[in-house]
Amino acid sequence: MLGRGWRRLTIAMVALAWPACAATPSPDATPALTMPHPVLAAGDMRQHLDLSGVWHYSIDPYRTGDAGFHGGDPGASQRRYADIDVAQQMRDHPSALYEFDMARAPTATLPSSWLTHSPDMRHYQGLVWYQRHFTVDPKPGEREFLRFGAANYRAQIYLNGKRVGEHEGGFTTFAFEVTGLLRKGDNQITVGVDSARAPEDLPPPVTDWETYGGLTRAVTLVTTPATYVDNAWVRLSRDGRIAVSAHLDGKAAGDLPVTFRIPALGLALPGKTDGNGDWSTTVAAPAALKRWSPDSPTLYDVQIAAGDDVWKDRVGFRTIAVRGHDILLNGKPIFLRGIALHEEEFGGNPTRAITPEAARALLSEVKDGLHGNYVRLAHYPHSEVMTRMADKLGLIVWSEIPIYWMVDFKNPEVLAKAQHMLAEEIERDRDRASIIIWSVGNETPITPARNHFLSTLAAEAHSLDDSRLVSAALLVDRGSENGKTVFNINDPLIPSLDVMAVNTYNGWYSEDPLPSLADFVWRSPYDKPLIFSELGAAAKAGFHDPTRSHKFSEEFQADYYKYTLAMASRIPFLRGMSPWVLKDFRSPRRQHPVYQQGWNRKGLVSPTGVRKEAFGVLAGYYAKIAAEGGAAH
Ligand code: GCU
Repeated sequence: MLGRGWRRLTIAMVALAWPACAATPSPDATPALTMPHPVLAAGDMRQHLDLSGVWHYSIDPYRTGDAGFHGGDPGASQRRYADIDVAQQMRDHPSALYEFDMARAPTATLPSSWLTHSPDMRHYQGLVWYQRHFTVDPKPGEREFLRFGAANYRAQIYLNGKRVGEHEGGFTTFAFEVTGLLRKGDNQITVGVDSARAPEDLPPPVTDWETYGGLTRAVTLVTTPATYVDNAWVRLSRDGRIAVSAHLDGKAAGDLPVTFRIPALGLALPGKTDGNGDWSTTVAAPAALKRWSPDSPTLYDVQIAAGDDVWKDRVGFRTIAVRGHDILLNGKPIFLRGIALHEEEFGGNPTRAITPEAARALLSEVKDGLHGNYVRLAHYPHSEVMTRMADKLGLIVWSEIPIYWMVDFKNPEVLAKAQHMLAEEIERDRDRASIIIWSVGNETPITPARNHFLSTLAAEAHSLDDSRLVSAALLVDRGSENGKTVFNINDPLIPSLDVMAVNTYNGWYSEDPLPSLADFVWRSPYDKPLIFSELGAAAKAGFHDPTRSHKFSEEFQADYYKYTLAMASRIPFLRGMSPWVLKDFRSPRRQHPVYQQGWNRKGLVSPTGVRKEAFGVLAGYYAKIAAEGGAAH
């Protein structure tokens, strides 16, 4: 049946005022879930003007473009977003004072973090203003939207000097309608992006990865008809029927004839929206339908024709479920042969610019290099470029929101923020067959407030999407019994989850002799599958130690994998793993001057893709599992 979430979703959406903003709940209530609006589902597939390219930028570390020196509105001398030609103003009014000029400010090519705009930007954190001009000829009866792939961490958007909206969260896609604000010919867009985060933000200030501030994903101007398909969800329901849900936005959205099509299957399904512009239906899957899987990542062009609009996407059809200790893909048990990765391209000076080529390079190393079928896209929603590439190449995905370490779990406004971020993540990617798990947390300290926070998010994820599994990366108690080291999986959050996931680093963050790892015992009272969401050790590529005993040597890392995998192969309820991590990634926490230099070195490959000895250990382990049918480990 169709997810409860869809009805709740459309009610919430129809009721929503806009621009999108997180409701501010009363302090004692579990906050109401605010939904992104507009969603512009599959907005990257719509007709759009791509605003990637050269932008001017101006740093503003004291946020003078935000507020005056005693608070209040910024003075005219500081308003980067003003719709003026500063040089001309100063020529016309020599006594006028301007302490900015975006038209003559330095330039950078976006999307890209600002860390690579120039050497002196490498460690900049704070507010940066971006501005560019573009030319359009708006057509009567059309609607225009500014769509942002991501802006890390807070963004404020102006068009032709008028404030359009603001957004919080560095990793989710958002959009604002600008119909009527555009002018024929030249237009000016200004975006203020502030990378600073407070303890009540998500993630909190302390993480283990670089804060790549800026406009790190594409900015586009999307055009739709006056009434358009704003949200759509196309999937295979658990009983094997094709399920379609759509929400139309616009004056003609109610009681409108619509047609769902899969041209390659000759399927055309007529219908009609209700008074709210909603339509949901199911249909038996045509016999010719080929299900999506890593071995056969079949994608279909799908369409929803509605009045003047034709919504399009490319989707795969598959089912995912758990049964006891097993994870079932299309009804068959599967072992997730994975690896974790941050959103960071190969190269010596990454800037979090994930092009299709960068995504293919990373994911091909997983699929072809490691013989993998799974990736944990950590620790935040990755670019839609990456999730679409996973659909295309055939890699199963764990997607997560950055509920990481010391979150302010007692604060209902933080919960509301997390709920909104979860909804933005699910709304953007619900049509991606590759994604099977929504994760709601990573290594969060166990308290009653954290349990309430995460169990609320887990329930919201199930409510928004009843077709996928919910998990969280947990920690476990270490004990000993009769001289054996024993790990008991007993996190109180587990009853809220479909899949248990644990990060484990014995032998790296401990001094256990590596051969002893193989005898460690894992216990779980739950009839649920376990994934090792992290395991790993660091090595500096090219650093060798013939004694194989020195941490940071390739030999130590390889032996860590050898003995940890021997331990894993003895856990009867383990159904997958995503070792930490595919590639070394930037982290300000990692400052050993010889082995780290600001990089987390737990990668199986170096920043430029040089494979370390451990790469072959994991690849061999996965090749054997694949050769034996892919279910047992
Ligand atoms: C933690 C955390 C990662 C971190 C890793 C490490 O488990 O989830 O974000 O990078 O361990 O210590 O390298």
